[in-house]
Amino acid sequence: MTEYRGVDKSVLDWAGDALAVGFFEGAVELTGTLAQLDEKLAGTLQELISETEFEGKSGSSAVTRVGGGSPIRKIIAIGLGKEENSKLEDWRQAVAAAARAAKKEKCKTLGISLPVWNNDPEATAQAIVEAAELTLFQDERFKSEPEEKATSVETVELLELAGQEEAIARAEKICSGVNLARKLVAAPANSCTPETMAETALAIATEYGFEIEILEKEKCEELGMGAFLGVAQASDMPPKFIHMTYKPEGKPRRKVAIVGKGLTFDSGGLNLKPAGSGIETMKIDMGGAGATFGAAKAIGQLKPDVEVHFISAVTENMVSGKAMHPGDFLTASNGKTIEINNTDAEGRLTLADALVFADKLEVDAIVDLATLTGACVVALGDDIAGLWSPDDELAAELAKASERSGEKFWRMPLEEKYFEGLKSVHADMKNTGPRAGGSITAALFLKQFVEKTSWLHLDIAAPVWTDKDKGYNSTGATGFPVRTLVNWVLGE
Ligand code: BES
Ligand code: MN
Ligand code: ZN
Repeated sequence: MTEYRGVDKSVLDWAGDALAVGFFEGAVELTGTLAQLDEKLAGTLQELISETEFEGKSGSSAVTRVGGGSPIRKIIAIGLGKEENSKLEDWRQAVAAAARAAKKEKCKTLGISLPVWNNDPEATAQAIVEAAELTLFQDERFKSEPEEKATSVETVELLELAGQEEAIARAEKICSGVNLARKLVAAPANSCTPETMAETALAIATEYGFEIEILEKEKCEELGMGAFLGVAQASDMPPKFIHMTYKPEGKPRRKVAIVGKGLTFDSGGLNLKPAGSGIETMKIDMGGAGATFGAAKAIGQLKPDVEVHFISAVTENMVSGKAMHPGDFLTASNGKTIEINNTDAEGRLTLADALVFADKLEVDAIVDLATLTGACVVALGDDIAGLWSPDDELAAELAKASERSGEKFWRMPLEEKYFEGLKSVHADMKNTGPRAGGSITAALFLKQFVEKTSWLHLDIAAPVWTDKDKGYNSTGATGFPVRTLVNWVLGE
């Protein structure tokens, strides 16, 4: 556990293991206080900048040891990128570089000196703590022995940001949600199951006083959730339909639902994923549910004046003699019939019943998030999620929340004409369209199950996981897009 403190100290009177100092790109000459600091450090900072040709580029950093009895052991120069049009995300990237360096250099205390972004010390403090906390997070649950026996960063001090306790606490609450999502996504399918997802939901609900209902298979049958249950029927593990509700004290300003795809494993079903298709990575297929639960954990602590429903139809997509056959017809809980032309397009089937359920809750908006299609990965690459909505206002709300979080989305078209690709001869629709526009037909499929509520869909197949260290995300689960969801609920 790292402790964060805003302190009323400048770089001149800070003492500790590592001091990180931010620079804008092309503005690395040492003047004023920094010239004084350099003097105090016997020219070490100037030397570092010159020798490493440090230019202040976004995310760049340079570290060196400070010799001779200095109260600072290491000095870290961190780059903020260009000063004009600078984004809060540049601050996070800079802090990530500092935290990474401090960890590597086995520093226990880290001081961070950055300019205030946009005259907004709250946002600055929050972003610094977010980035440090997310960078320093380490998940060693599945190691027999911890790899990092050595020192970890114990204290991070935010220089000249005294009095920002509230912003710091906020960041910590949000990060606890992001890190929960990361842990859920990182846990493999023999550890994270529909049962354990239900247990996690129950733990969150108990801790934060949420209402919770976990619908067992029989109840789902009663509700006619044929699409969800069709996917679940090959698994030896019973499905769990999870619904948690956060209700604020007093009248809620707004009511919303967050619906996450919760496939604890996706084998593809009888349309089995072949070798080389990434079948061994399909534990991540509950990333939508993981982020939904992460958002719930954060919201439970932040207590906004908004009622939030957290929903996931959790199961595995497996193969067995009980598996749905390619070609089967299923009936969803809104009565629509679906021809299963590919059992690997299972996420949309589980979401269909979850969306019908959410649509009946009389909420003002539904956001669903799902590791839905490989096609979206092809379209937008590793870092960007797809966003679909018939509602421009809701899309603008999400865009604003994402601008603030630094998590990236790109709005995609809900091209109605493409629904033709899902035409079925005998059923109402097929679950899979042609290869071309695969993420769009998936979104159009989901749209059939939302009748009256404003709705937005996020395809997060790519950014829930990263194959290499990137900024404040280390290789593995990222916790995407918990921070955006939280901002959205808070109206930020
Ligand atoms: N869970 C996958 C999508 C996925 C792919 C997530 C890569 C993360 C990384 C989804 O259930 C799936 O299998 N989609 C198919 C749909 C196809 C059968 C129409 C796909 O994308 O290939
Ligand atoms: Mn699939
Ligand atoms: Zn899937």
